[in-house]
Amino acid sequence: MAAAIFSLFVLFVSLLIETSSASPATGLQIVHAERQIDLTSHIVRVYLTLKIENTGDAPATEVLLAFPPAQFDHLALVKAAVAVGKKRKKSFAPLETNPTEQPEAPNGTKYYSVSLLNPLAKGETTTLEVHYILTQSLEPFPAEIAQSDPQLVYYHDSAIILSPYHIVHQATVVKIPSNNVQSFTQVEPSHRSGTELRYGPYEERGPYSYSPIIIHFENNHPFAVVEELEREIEISHWGSVQVTEHYKLAHAGAKHRGVFSRVEYQSRPGGSGVSSFKHLLAELPPRVHSVYYRDNIGNISSSRLRTNSKKSELLIEPRYPLFGGWKATFIIGYGVPLKDFLFESAPGARFLNYSFGCPIADTIVDKLTIKVVLPEGSKDPSVEVPFVVEQSLETKYSYLDVMGRTVVVLEKKNVVPEHNVPFQVHYKFNPIFMLAEPLMLVSTFFLLFAASIAYLHVDLSLRK
Ligand SMILES: *[C@@H]1O[C@H](CO)[C@@H](O)[C@H](O)[C@H]1NC(C)=O
Ligand SMILES: *[C@@H]1O[C@H](CO)[C@@H](O)[C@H](O)[C@H]1NC(C)=O
Ligand SMILES: *[C@@H]1O[C@H](CO)[C@@H](O)[C@H](O)[C@H]1NC(C)=O
Repeated sequence: MAAAIFSLFVLFVSLLIETSSASPATGLQIVHAERQIDLTSHIVRVYLTLKIENTGDAPATEVLLAFPPAQFDHLALVKAAVAVGKKRKKSFAPLETNPTEQPEAPNGTKYYSVSLLNPLAKGETTTLEVHYILTQSLEPFPAEIAQSDPQLVYYHDSAIILSPYHIVHQATVVKIPSNNVQSFTQVEPSHRSGTELRYGPYEERGPYSYSPIIIHFENNHPFAVVEELEREIEISHWGSVQVTEHYKLAHAGAKHRGVFSRVEYQSRPGGSGVSSFKHLLAELPPRVHSVYYRDNIGNISSSRLRTNSKKSELLIEPRYPLFGGWKATFIIGYGVPLKDFLFESAPGARFLNYSFGCPIADTIVDKLTIKVVLPEGSKDPSVEVPFVVEQSLETKYSYLDVMGRTVVVLEKKNVVPEHNVPFQVHYKFNPIFMLAEPLMLVSTFFLLFAASIAYLHVDLSLRK
């Protein structure tokens, strides 16, 4: 009897252990994984297609994406979507992704969790499209180059996709910008054809399989990094939105060695300073006016503005070409019509709808600050941005202001072109405040007038 009870107890305990060890990771497996790593610019873009099957008993509500700690720190964006509808009517529904922690993460693995639209029942499969972006993940090697050298960089990753799940079948394609590949780690089967490296197919790899690779290749793409960008967007109910942008731009590629020869640079275009950049393109709204571009010396007249009905393009040309390690500081300013960006959501409630991110194409921003200066008398500001940003409030005084203006401050690190999406700042506004500035003007004039009359009177009475 006691033995029977004991064996029942053992059975019970072992069952308990089994169910408690069934962490969300164990029930899923990846049937098929395809990865594409795009190394053609200085921003690393990775696309993953994961066909996931639930082999466990419990329905799964989330899928984990794993990253080595070094990569996690350079993630600028992680997006996931699931295909809905069939064949012709197929479309993608975005899924929520959030950084998350796991109790037993081998080798410091970091995670994002993807929340599924519907729980995945036992035996069911779903296909996720994942897109993530890494910044500053191409390491120039050699770290210093002469003016006539091409720029070579290292990229580190794993031939096998890092995952907490078993992967049945997988393959990776790496796209590189040129035919000049100095070396790449072989993990059989792997081969190169032109500007593509193929890793896999690999079959039946267990959870957390990892196989480090290094790719050493030529990449002369402009490594344009804005170390700091401050954009001030000032709303004046008197007809325009004034935008002022302060840039601290750097060339983050291999450092320039030796002296810069302008003669060599100009006589051998395409053969000298191939990784340097002379100009950048900023995309501004269609109806911009009063555009200026200046640095601490003064106006730079070599900029060019092209406008059509959809957008305006400002070609920015710093005073000297930028080589690796060089920096340039400048300011761009412009006005845009109020009616294009400010809308009334309800009587007394307005919102600004403007673009987040950096208007210069193909740049990374280390630290972006956006300051939205609301009109005087605005109340209850609130912000809608589709990703996490730091928010705070400030007050700004300019002449004619009685109480100062509320400034909504948004800060974000590691910003890439994919962050150039609309954001909204809502606020309440009483139109009576529109009269504040003219009233101030009128009363100032009136006071001056009264003062001069008084002065004249005093003057006259003294002469008598
Ligand atoms: C952790 O890293 C070591 C050394 O790189 C490796 O040998 C080991 O397999 C890794 N462990 C796991 C669980 O990934
Ligand atoms: C710079 O250019 C702007 C716009 O073209 C102009 O208003 C301003 O007076 C110029 N400033 C100087 C110092 O030339
Ligand atoms: C903001 O503007 C964009 C176009 O620039 C538009 O697609 C979007 O719907 C607008 N958002 C709101 C909330 O009005």
